[in-house]
Amino acid sequence: MTAPLAAVVLCAGKGTRMKSEKAKVLHPILGKPICAYPLMRALELGSSPVVPVVGHQAEEVERSIRAHFPTAPLRFALQKDQRGTADAVRSAESALKDFKGRVLILYGDVPLVRRETLEALSAAHDKSGGVLSLVSTSPADPTGYGRVIREMGKVVRIVEHKDAPPEQRQVRECNAGIYLVESSFLWKALANIRSTNAQGEFYLTDLVEMAAAQGPVGSIDAEFGETAGVNDRVELAARAKELQARINTWHMRNGVTLTDPSTTYIEEGVAIGSDTEIAPMVTLSGATVVGRNVTVGQGSVLHASSVADGTTIKPYTVLEEARVGERCILGPFSRLRPGTDLAEEVHLGNFVETKKARLGRGSKANHLAYLGDAKIGSGVNVGAGTITCNYDGVNKHLTELGDGVFIGSDTQLVAPVKVGDGAYVGAGTTVTKDVPPGSLAVSRTPQVNMEGWVERKKARMAKSAEAGPSKPDKASAG
Ligand code: UD1
Ligand code: MG
Repeated sequence: MTAPLAAVVLCAGKGTRMKSEKAKVLHPILGKPICAYPLMRALELGSSPVVPVVGHQAEEVERSIRAHFPTAPLRFALQKDQRGTADAVRSAESALKDFKGRVLILYGDVPLVRRETLEALSAAHDKSGGVLSLVSTSPADPTGYGRVIREMGKVVRIVEHKDAPPEQRQVRECNAGIYLVESSFLWKALANIRSTNAQGEFYLTDLVEMAAAQGPVGSIDAEFGETAGVNDRVELAARAKELQARINTWHMRNGVTLTDPSTTYIEEGVAIGSDTEIAPMVTLSGATVVGRNVTVGQGSVLHASSVADGTTIKPYTVLEEARVGERCILGPFSRLRPGTDLAEEVHLGNFVETKKARLGRGSKANHLAYLGDAKIGSGVNVGAGTITCNYDGVNKHLTELGDGVFIGSDTQLVAPVKVGDGAYVGAGTTVTKDVPPGSLAVSRTPQVNMEGWVERKKARMAKSAEAGPSKPDKASAG
């Protein structure tokens, strides 16, 4: 049996170098706040509870985290003043007072840590049998980082850059800021940390020397890219690019074609089936699920939507909370808003907007239409320019079209209204009453043809031109 695991994620920092009104950990990377990534990793490992330590803009940070993890076992802790990383972890003590086991400590501004690395840390901790294990990394330029000091190969302490004498500054191995600590040791040891150092801060890293006095300190080495934090917006963009490449590579290895991965944005949590092809400049976000053999055309944006196997999405199509069945054809330039639900083989063409609209198998709306609050049967043809007039200024109303209905071009369906199975609606009709099944509805002003009218008009115009430019009279000058 594995030991119980809890996590503390430090999210209290201000992030001065972001030059932002918004707390640093809330700045987004591929659609999610920076701190959502370490929180996800902690939750994936089964940590319970997970304690985000908040401080700067505590309320906003807490609200955002709760919104992202509505069902997660979170307990928030408040660090009032930023007195150092040890003080930050200590402020989580009361949230974890009844917890016994291992505490994973992560920084909220380090988004790229991989689950595998944390699992390796856990394995190293099991092996060492000590009270603390840590992740180290070797950046090209170690300036500013805490150095991992070893004696006879064993970790004995961490010395912060500002406190390190020149010979220790030569050490390349740095502290990544990721730890696994036994709770039986953690809280007692934290109480003994003092702020007598170059920065006058309570250093979490002082735990390492105390742990080394009790037994071996476990360590694993991680790539610097994984442990790099975000301090300004240049680093924010760099981390986002690395994450994008990591996610896109994963999908390509799973059998998804990305024509130009450098311009494809797929958020973590999106699922894509094999043999699906994704054109440049596509964004897939939220809990989007794309099936197999789907084509997603250039510039399309799919958010929190599902698209079943074999569907073709032509360029510049936007889906939001929509469900699309198998072998549909969408776009170019279709907009599927929340509550759109398409059965198989539905076609929606250019400039067709749907909202809370269900379309049955094989139904088509190929050009210029608005279908809102609509229940549409199968085999329905919706002509160009058709509009459901679903809103009366106060309430929304339903339009129902039965199976096999034919709606002529430029029809307005004034809801609530029903068109029965197999009925036809003539082009240009304003449908205000229900149409019985199998009937034709037409509402048009009878057409009048005035023969010779154009010739007569031209003659009148020629005559008034001969008379010279007309002077403005009193009536028209008013
Ligand atoms: C820390 C480590 C250093 C390591 C480096 C890796 C310490 C003393 N040093 O240094 O060994 O190489 O990270 O990036 O831990 N925070 C709070 N409350 C505080 C102080 C910090 O929540 O009172 C949060 C910050 O918002 C940040 C994290 O803790 O997310 C790290 O703090 P930071 O001040 O950046 O520590 P470093 O000096 O980088
Ligand atoms: Mg830092």
